[in-house]
Amino acid sequence: MSNFPIAVLASGTGSNLQAILDTVHCHDGIEVVAVGSDIAAAPALERARRAGVATAAFPLADHDGDRVARDTALADWLQERGARLVALAGYMRLLTPQFLARFPLGVVNVHPALLPAFPGLRAVEQALAHGVRVFGVTVHFVDEGVDTGPIILQRAVELPRARDADEVFEQIHAIEHELLPEAIRLIARGAVTLDPDNPRRVLLG
Ligand code: GAR
Repeated sequence: MSNFPIAVLASGTGSNLQAILDTVHCHDGIEVVAVGSDIAAAPALERARRAGVATAAFPLADHDGDRVARDTALADWLQERGARLVALAGYMRLLTPQFLARFPLGVVNVHPALLPAFPGLRAVEQALAHGVRVFGVTVHFVDEGVDTGPIILQRAVELPRARDADEVFEQIHAIEHELLPEAIRLIARGAVTLDPDNPRRVLLG
């Protein structure tokens, strides 16, 4: 019996999910009990199935385009599976406030930029177009905004000569695969709290 069941949501390839399955799942009482997606054919779901983890897809079309209905079904399924934390690993949908209310301070996201710079989609492409010399990764709690929640972990990487997104992503992914599992481990052991004097600020340890 796991004492810290978690869920992962992913829309795409699932390399971050794989890092979680390889380094966090079945360690230190943490267990991935559910992997959900908005896309039935997402390769991430296949990775979960290979690891013996329950999967389900919740396409918007199955709920007549009603985001609240879709997110309610998703939250019901994750809670039936016992998830205490939901990690977004390349989940490309905005979660509704109704979903977030079901997991207070219980949803984290990995984003391929140093927030608050370059929120939203195609962050690496935004950063390249801006001509930045320092790229990076942020893991943060999810709130109702777009990539605006309290920051848990960040790491920068200097790539002053980077010209294309693939080059940057190679470095970014390697960082993500360490930072998202690390944030999950910290949360599971109760080492992550909000500063009562500044609820935007995360205290670690
Ligand atoms: C990751 O780079 C993640 O940061 C990004 O999607 C990728 C998923 O890769 N997420 C976002 O851009 C969210 N705004 P993966 O499917 O190989 O884990």
